[in-house]
Amino acid sequence: MRVWALPLALLALVSCVTQSVSHRQQQSKAPVVPFRPIVIDPAALAKRLVSMQSGWPRSRKFDCGRLKCVALTFDDGPGEHTGRLLDLLRSRDVRATFFVIGQMVAADKGGHTVRRIVDDGHEIGNHSWSHPPLAEVPNDELKRQLKHTEDIVQRLTGVRMRVMRPPYGSTDAQVEAETRREGLAQILWNVDTLDWRDRVSSTVAKRAGEAKPGSIILLHDIHRTTVDAVPKMLDTLGKKGYTFVTVSELYGKTPAPGRTYTER
Ligand code: NI
Repeated sequence: MRVWALPLALLALVSCVTQSVSHRQQQSKAPVVPFRPIVIDPAALAKRLVSMQSGWPRSRKFDCGRLKCVALTFDDGPGEHTGRLLDLLRSRDVRATFFVIGQMVAADKGGHTVRRIVDDGHEIGNHSWSHPPLAEVPNDELKRQLKHTEDIVQRLTGVRMRVMRPPYGSTDAQVEAETRREGLAQILWNVDTLDWRDRVSSTVAKRAGEAKPGSIILLHDIHRTTVDAVPKMLDTLGKKGYTFVTVSELYGKTPAPGRTYTER
């Protein structure tokens, strides 16, 4: 090894560790909400379930084998910028997929945002209760992380989620087995906008614009700069002829429980 190679290697290692730590630190800003059962008016929920059985999900059929499709995915919310994002997506008639964190759902008073995600026709997915790397937690904690999030979303919206995203993409055989049991497909990504690191909307929009047909794009709706990037992102991809679809629409069916997907 040449003399200059060692310091370079050390520098690369340190920067890797710093990136991973700072990504994990972004979660520390999230309110820590312990899991507790929430009280929902049973009559209101029953009414909601009946209306959903007759009209939800509003399934749209796309042949993404022929069309240029792309799936925008927003993680770690709902947060303070999610409402503005939903307004933007609604004004452009664009559907996306939201991988929500259970404790963020619990902190969103009355579950207004999570219900709006569903009512606007977006897909909703499980992103754990408190965002730990799931491959590193004991099995009973893994079960709790998935189940508690499942429960709160189902109680608030009536929706039983079919997709999940492991925080940090951390998965292993145990996560695969548990997600299969829970009926959840594991959705990863093949376009990383690094929006949590680079809080510059033009950079985020540019990276998203590099998607290929069938791409799944990773974004975080907890950052103002990410929401700011959305109009430019939609313009760039729209001009290239892309259709914006949810994850299940990308595959034309509900993805298989336990299986890992990164693109179509
Ligand atoms: Ni996340």
